[in-house]
Amino acid sequence: MRADYPALARSIASLTEGESDRVALMATVTCEVFHADDRFDWVGFYRVVAPELLKIGPYQGGHGCLTIPFSRGVCGAAARSGTPQIVADVDTFQDHIACASSTRSELVLPVFGAAGELIAVFDIDSDQPDAFDGTDARELAAILHAVFART
Ligand code: SME
Repeated sequence: MRADYPALARSIASLTEGESDRVALMATVTCEVFHADDRFDWVGFYRVVAPELLKIGPYQGGHGCLTIPFSRGVCGAAARSGTPQIVADVDTFQDHIACASSTRSELVLPVFGAAGELIAVFDIDSDQPDAFDGTDARELAAILHAVFART
């Protein structure tokens, strides 16, 4: 099953209406996205908790590493650059941090708050190679904007 992004956006908008707590929002987005698409084997947030430092937030899937500095991994690259990272083959991304050996490809999106500040990155891992494209990045970025740009 592939994500029906308009339906996913509607469902997340309805579930999160009136909520402003970021962890509550992250937990809800994670759950909805994880169950929306068979390609998604790990879904979760890494939160900016200090300068140049990410800590694990709400996630679904196997365990994720707890701390990622901005200098490391695909998550760090998204946090440093503030731009989406699509990695078609994690074995070719030199600094990929392997939380699960089954992961073959990865999409990481920056998440911004109301003032345009980076508050987190949203990480989706797939056990399938080359699982993500620009449509996934664009549609998920729009969902993240709708939820977090008011927090
Ligand atoms: N692979 C990520 C680390 C997080 S886990 O995949 C859950 C990275 O390279 O930043």
